[in-house]
Amino acid sequence: MKVICTEKSQILATRLAKALKTTIVNVKYSRFPDGELYLIAGELDDETIIVSSVIDNDALVQLLLLIDACEGSDLRLVIPYMGYARQDKQFRQGEPLSARAVARAIGRGVSECITVNIHEPDVLRFFGAPSRNISLARDIGAYVKTLNLKNPLILAPDDGALAFAGQVASAGEWEYDHLEKTRLSGEQVTMAPKALSAASRPVVIVDDIISTGGTIATAAGMLYAQGATDVFAACVHGVLTGGAYVRLVEAGIRDVICSDTIERGCSRVSAADQIAHTLQTCTNR
Ligand code: R5P
Repeated sequence: MKVICTEKSQILATRLAKALKTTIVNVKYSRFPDGELYLIAGELDDETIIVSSVIDNDALVQLLLLIDACEGSDLRLVIPYMGYARQDKQFRQGEPLSARAVARAIGRGVSECITVNIHEPDVLRFFGAPSRNISLARDIGAYVKTLNLKNPLILAPDDGALAFAGQVASAGEWEYDHLEKTRLSGEQVTMAPKALSAASRPVVIVDDIISTGGTIATAAGMLYAQGATDVFAACVHGVLTGGAYVRLVEAGIRDVICSDTIERGCSRVSAADQIAHTLQTCTNR
């Protein structure tokens, strides 16, 4: 068994290969003069684990090319971050169900798919292969524990992320809650924890994805106004689009923590061990 990966998942794939005590296949990536992507893989094995976060359109095309290059090998697919997964419903007539389109394209011909904190687990059924989703909530909780915060409040940005916040909080048996928006006027909205107080304590806002950072940046200002001593932001997938990291720091976020499902300077939590464990214990095969 060997591990192989697309260009932007090299660090996690290398960690995974180490955790599985196996080797990683060397892949050379380039472009044709017209911009089309090209790759060539080194020596393959009968069993191959492809690791590829779909973080942009190039990563998606590289993944499709890699699946094809590995044809003939028994393929297991690890998609640490699945882009397009947030369009998981047809909200308006004429829209694609983008999560389905991507899952169908990459899941064909593989024997198993593993995702990490996919935005909507229901999307797994579109892969057309046995699929499992793992959660890094407890790993993020373990990292938060190393910060030695006194009586932190773990806060989800909305009630949909409350269960995730609860799993993070279980690492230290901390209190957790979710933010609730109250409309003060046509343009003015305030946000505060629904049931608990943020006063005189550190707050860690946790979510599956930080994209523009808009939600957390807005919440941080309000939490400081409510007396929070420090506000941290932690997520699984640090998409961090359009200057999000700077926006968060400017809003007073003391530290931004994410995992290596998307490889960033602030990737402090690795998904490698959990993915390795899942691959080793999978009963689907
Ligand atoms: C949305 O449903 C996700 O769980 C995140 O809350 C969202 O992607 C965060 O977006 P942003 O960082 O742009 O506020």
